[in-house]
This record gives sequence, C-alpha cells and structure tokens, in this order.
Amino acid sequence: MEAISAGTGIGLSWRSKPITYSNPSSSRVTRRFSQIKMTAVSVEKKTLNIPKSEEIFKEAKDLMPGGVNSPVRAFNSVGGQPIVVDSVKGSHMWDVDGNEYIDYVGSWGPAIIGHADDKVLAALTETMKKGTSFGAPSALENVLAKMVISAVPSIEMVRFVNSGTEACMGVLRLARAFTGRQKIIKFEGCYHGHADPFLVKAGSGVATLGLPDSPGVPKSSTHDTLTSPYNDISTVENLFKAHRGEIAAVILEPVVGNSGFIEPQPGFLDALRQITKENDSLLIFDEVMTGFRLAYGGAQEYFGVTPDLTTLGKIIGGGLPVGAFGGRREIMEMVAPAGPMYQAGTLSGNPLAMTAGIQTLTRLQESGSYEYLDKITGELTKGILDAGKKAGHEMCGGYIRGMYGFFFTGGPVYNFGDAKKSDTAKFARFYWGMLEEGVYFAPSQFEAGFTSLAHTSGDIQQTIEAAEKVFQQL
Ligand SMILES: Cc1ncc(COP(=O)(O)O)c(C=O)c1O
Repeated sequence: MEAISAGTGIGLSWRSKPITYSNPSSSRVTRRFSQIKMTAVSVEKKTLNIPKSEEIFKEAKDLMPGGVNSPVRAFNSVGGQPIVVDSVKGSHMWDVDGNEYIDYVGSWGPAIIGHADDKVLAALTETMKKGTSFGAPSALENVLAKMVISAVPSIEMVRFVNSGTEACMGVLRLARAFTGRQKIIKFEGCYHGHADPFLVKAGSGVATLGLPDSPGVPKSSTHDTLTSPYNDISTVENLFKAHRGEIAAVILEPVVGNSGFIEPQPGFLDALRQITKENDSLLIFDEVMTGFRLAYGGAQEYFGVTPDLTTLGKIIGGGLPVGAFGGRREIMEMVAPAGPMYQAGTLSGNPLAMTAGIQTLTRLQESGSYEYLDKITGELTKGILDAGKKAGHEMCGGYIRGMYGFFFTGGPVYNFGDAKKSDTAKFARFYWGMLEEGVYFAPSQFEAGFTSLAHTSGDIQQTIEAAEKVFQQL
C-alpha cells in the first residue's frame, strides 16, 4: 500500500493546478487601510455606501442570533457588517443600497450555472402551478434520481433530503447500520454539516468563530469521532491499528473547501480507498461542495477514486434546499422503508427543489461547461496570485474547475494547520478593499471560492484589476 505523510509529496497530481508564490519582504509592506483596524477584524469606517444594509442588519441583530441564519454570513472574521442582498442575476449581486458586485460565493456553491437562470425560473414557474409540495411520490424525483445515479460513479441508489447536514447525518447512520460499528474517522478542517458527531475540528464556520467545539454537543456524541490531519495517511493507518475492527467509515471532503481550498496530495485518496477496503470500513466522500463542481461526476470522477457512499447538496438543488446521500445498492437498501435504518423528511424530494436540480444539471451537461469553468477559474486564480506577488505579499492558492482559493501565506497548504498560518487580518483588509471595488468574496479566509458558467472574461478581468489596486493598499 502506498503511504504518504502530511508534508511529503510536494508536487500535486497531474490534474491539479497549484500556484504558489512567496515573498519574504511582504512583512515590510506598508499597511495603509485607514478604515480598518490592524489587529482586530473590525471595520471602523467604510467608503462603501450601505445605509440601508446597516439599518436592516441592526434590526436583524435584535431578531435573529447575530442577525443571521448561518454564522459565516455575519462577517465576524472580516469585521464590519454584512451587506444585505436585494437580488442576484447571473454572476452579479445587488445590495439593498443599489451597489453591484461580482459574486464569487454563488450562494455558497449552488449557483454554478449563474444566479436566477432564466430556464430554471421558467421551469419553477411551471412546476409551481401544480403545487409546491406533495408529500407523496412525484415523477420529478425519478428524473433527478436517474440523473444523479448516471453521473456519480459510486451512486446506484439515492435518498433525497433537504440539506447537506441532513445528508451527512443520514450517511453516518447508514454506515454504522451497515457495518455494525460505531467509530468514524474525519479530518481536521473538514465540515460535514452541524450534526453533533461531526462538530469536532470542523473547519470554516466553527474556526471562523474560534469555537473549538460547540457547547451543547454531548461528549457521548463525539466519543466515536476520531480525527486526523488532512493529507496524513500515516495518522489514519495508526487509527486503524489502534481501533481494529471498530471503524465504520472514513469521511472526508475529497477536495477541502471548508478550510479554504486544499487539494488531496497525490495518492491520498487512493490510500484511503485501500485502507478502508482492507479493514472492511466504508469510504464516504462528502461531495456536498465538490459534487457536479469539479466534474459532472464530482471529485470521484475527477480523481478516479470511487467511494462506497457519497453525500451531495448545493448544486443538485439549483438554489433550492436539497441534499442527498447515495451509494452501492446493497448498502442503500438498508434505508427505510426498504430496510431497517430509519430516515425521513416532510419536504424531501419536493417538486420545486427537484425541478431546479434537474434544470441545473441539464445545463451542466452541455458540452464545454467544465472546460469553461476551468478556463475562467484558472485566469482568476492566476491573476489574483500574480497581482499579490507583484505587490509583495506571501500567497499561495490553487483551483480545480469551478472551485478555487488563495491564502495569505507562502504555503504550501496541505491541511487546516497549514491554512491557519495565513495572515487573516490582511485577508480582512483585502476583503473590504475588494468589496469596495465591487467584488464579493466569501467573508472568511477559510472558505473556498466558486465561479459559475455566468462569469464572463470581463468579470474576471475586472476582478483582477480590482485586486491589483487593493493589493497595493494593504
Ligand atoms: C462539504 C460540506 N458538507 C456538508 C455541508 C452542510 O450542508 P448544509 O449547509 O446544506 O447543511 C456543507 C456546507 O457548506 C459542506 O460544505
């Protein structure tokens, strides 16, 4: 069996596109962003004109915890307050004050064909005329199920749910039911939704808030969750030795997006495939983010490694709330009512979500989709890193198709520990500078970015020119 350790195997796989620059003099770069405090990530004064956003968010904070319904949206890690969005179309977003932005968040992934696509909206309108939810079988479920099964190599049967969190909860119960074992291995910095057993070293949102683990998660829920640094196969081997016959599954993001963008090192996914097989454990790819984004068949098609089970979300709902888990028929037939493992959902498989998913996947099937994503994302990533280097900043980053990321550290970044070496205060200054230039990135250093088929070369050029300007001011 091939074994690799974290920090070895510097070269990335033939399909990956690492871009790493470093400049030791960057620490001497003058910091000139007067509107942003240097140490804390709080914004004192902005040139961005957002009075309506400020008013709405002030009210929101009194109505909802932190003013939001999902933590990273609150801008805690970049300071200041979020812009309040009024509308989206294609690759663009408008706030309630009329400011326009090029959007690289894409609703955190679903908007891969662009926001509010005309065909998706038209199909939704037609479906809506028949009702929004049946709570009973509909033909649309079969259509999306067939599309998912034919696209994703590991999936022979699928169960639709309403979010990525639900998909990961379901898949974990299924892995435990199928193997009769309790323990799982997850990787530091990988996020698999907010269910109790996964809230251990869970990346993005949790890291951004500086919460090691969440209060309220009982120790009994995480007792069977073992963790390893990402890209570190020797730790995984040791865990399998120490817990022989006890590990139900290894779950991971096959390309990490929740610690920023981190690729698997060559051989890492293959080694996980092999070690899980040897130990009669299941390999689970959480493709909630990477599914239909790195390739039509997801990361498993892109890297040629087929897991036993897969979770999906985001893109397969085309902007409506959907998740799914699927895998080999013999495993999936354990799910109720075909089998004894219970899982259910009032709105699961609802016709609106199925319709948006079907239309989105149909658009992605058009030839050249992934080549286009590769082209524009490559230009964007290279442009940003070139501009950063030219201005004297230590940076590294990379991309695959419609997913990318960059860190304010010279790198290389193989795992969450490496990612945390980033200069997050500098990221916050860069973030606000870009926002003021009309570019909306994810408001955390520890989130991947997303492009879409609606992003134009003009968008990319505008973004790079904005970055060139902002990098000079950091
Ligand atoms: C890899 C991964 N898994 C699971 C989830 C949870 O999905 P949701 O937010 O739809 O519950 C996310 C969300 O970003 C994710 O990125």
